[in-house]
Amino acid sequence: MVHYDQDHWERLWSRTVEEHANILARRPPNAHFLSTVADLPPGRALDAGCGHGAETIWLAAHGWKVTAVDFSATALAHARSVAASLGETIAQRIDWVEGDLGSWAPAIDRFDLVTCLYVHVAGSVQEMIQRLASGVAPGGTLLLVGHRPFDPVTGAPTPAADQVQISVEAAKAQPDLRHWEFIVAEERQRTVAASGVDAVIQARRRG
Ligand SMILES: C[S@@+](CC[C@H](N)C(=O)[O-])C[C@H]1O[C@@H](n2cnc3c(N)ncnc32)[C@H](O)[C@@H]1O
Repeated sequence: MVHYDQDHWERLWSRTVEEHANILARRPPNAHFLSTVADLPPGRALDAGCGHGAETIWLAAHGWKVTAVDFSATALAHARSVAASLGETIAQRIDWVEGDLGSWAPAIDRFDLVTCLYVHVAGSVQEMIQRLASGVAPGGTLLLVGHRPFDPVTGAPTPAADQVQISVEAAKAQPDLRHWEFIVAEERQRTVAASGVDAVIQARRRG
């Protein structure tokens, strides 16, 4: 069984950056992400579990000031160098932070957008959602996307069957989100990057 811990990710990112740095640097941002943020006015964003940085860099290129957190030093170094290659205006809008989302908490009410895509949760999913949500400013947006372990229609295991990630049930059951507006809270078949099912949660904190 795979343990999705820091060692696992560091090894995976070291191999991937070594073998596919150019492909990584050109990877487009996630489709769920783009459909959510494209119409939001730029402000302060947190990209939790930023990985190779495609979403972080897109945000910075569109005027956002971004805090990008990951516990893989290799992924952060790669992302930082891609951002630097795009020029100072983009690079200086990003604060790269090496941190463990199992305990790292954003400053309260700090961000207009908090996004967390496909991060494996070692502890309680609800507790992580609560910590991420605490960083969203009044009127701000929380975007969570997670792989689902089972296909909701067929019940068959997906390629993510051994993973614990954010789910629609966990987000909806989080007491701190009780008064938020859920704009999207659904499971969607993945149409890019292999098969599977994604839980997509877009919630707005009322202002
Ligand atoms: C599947 S990748 C997703 C990367 C990016 N969000 C995307 O959608 O392309 C998961 C990322 O979360 C990071 N990660 C997983 N658990 C983490 C934790 N506890 N703290 C910080 N980063 C973590 C990994 O290093 C990896 O970069």
